[in-house]
Amino acid sequence: MSEAILAAKEKFAAILEKQLARVERMKADKEFIDYSKLDTIIIGVCGGDGIGPAITKAAHRILETLLAEEVKKGKVEFRVIDGLTIENRVKANKAIPDDVLAELKACHVILKGPTTTPRAGDPWPNIESANVAMRKELDLFANVRPVKVPEQGIDWTFFRENTEGGYALGSEGIHVNDDLAIDFTVTTTEGTERIVRAAFDFAKKNGKTRVTAVTKANVIKTTDGKFLSICKKIAEEYPGIELDDWYIDIMTAKLVDEKRRTQFQVLVLPNLYGDILTDEAAEFQGGVGTAGSSNMGKRYAMFEAIHGSAPRMVTEGRDKYADPCSIIRASVMLLNHIGYNTLADKLEKALDICMYQEKKLVITGRDTGATGEEFADYIMETIASL
Ligand code: IPM
Ligand code: MG
Repeated sequence: MSEAILAAKEKFAAILEKQLARVERMKADKEFIDYSKLDTIIIGVCGGDGIGPAITKAAHRILETLLAEEVKKGKVEFRVIDGLTIENRVKANKAIPDDVLAELKACHVILKGPTTTPRAGDPWPNIESANVAMRKELDLFANVRPVKVPEQGIDWTFFRENTEGGYALGSEGIHVNDDLAIDFTVTTTEGTERIVRAAFDFAKKNGKTRVTAVTKANVIKTTDGKFLSICKKIAEEYPGIELDDWYIDIMTAKLVDEKRRTQFQVLVLPNLYGDILTDEAAEFQGGVGTAGSSNMGKRYAMFEAIHGSAPRMVTEGRDKYADPCSIIRASVMLLNHIGYNTLADKLEKALDICMYQEKKLVITGRDTGATGEEFADYIMETIASL
């Protein structure tokens, strides 16, 4: 056997060991955290980089105002976590520097601004995305992304598997030799069951009647095939909720089909398809800048804007004009998640008024529009008037 194959086999064996160890960790991790039982809920506020610090500050200010009483009572504590910048990550040569990770792990939930993901050709070393690393480190297995356009009958909630699929080993592919590169995709029983259950539980709690599984199981037979068969098995535990099954290619088409798309309610899908389909879906609602995103695990949860860090806005001095609405939407999800549903409803209502109904201020991303801080003030004034 050639040296190249031997070396690749060794790397593959190490990958398998690591994945099997992860399966054991997942199996051991049974219980979901119960926020109502905590003395203090610690909210980490992590600005990230690019426009991240500017928009995160706006959302932080709103949350602090809404939760002022709770902070006073000691029920909630905010902790600002700096240091998740591309410069620091490059310096540490890690997706998340150790000290930042320790600070994140000392929180219960995290509000996170966008972080720059190095890609081939950038001046940075090609380190793993901080997003992807955080999802793995904190085992945030469910990426829940709602998309709503009421006037078009669109009300979708995507449950994107967030720690496996093509992302699990996205930075650990193997260049076997100059001619051959191999990447891997991962499906585990435990990892799939937990995301599919999360989707069905959500459907049950919210009176939904259908969960749609999206895969490419006709071609990616082993891993997508396993994902789909687990969807079918779990569906049996939920009488009254129908499972239907679509392939990702036709699903991307059907989201544009005005007759068909209103039938989708809850969708569950492997990581990469979820990444792609949720960008398409958000476009109907006004683009990725309008959507919030939550990343849930059993112990931790992280809420983020779903757009990127827009470094060009910073070099052009325009970060203060960046739109904070996506991370403010994420803040609504955070409030709901930790049990402050009335505050979440208020914030959501104010956001809808400011963004879609009253529109006293507009954000253009330049000095022709409002700054993020001005928009945050507008939202707070609107909340006060509700
Ligand atoms: C998302 C983003 C990330 C992903 C990037 C920034 C790594 O596109 O949250 O959808 O691919 O998951
Ligand atoms: Mg994406």
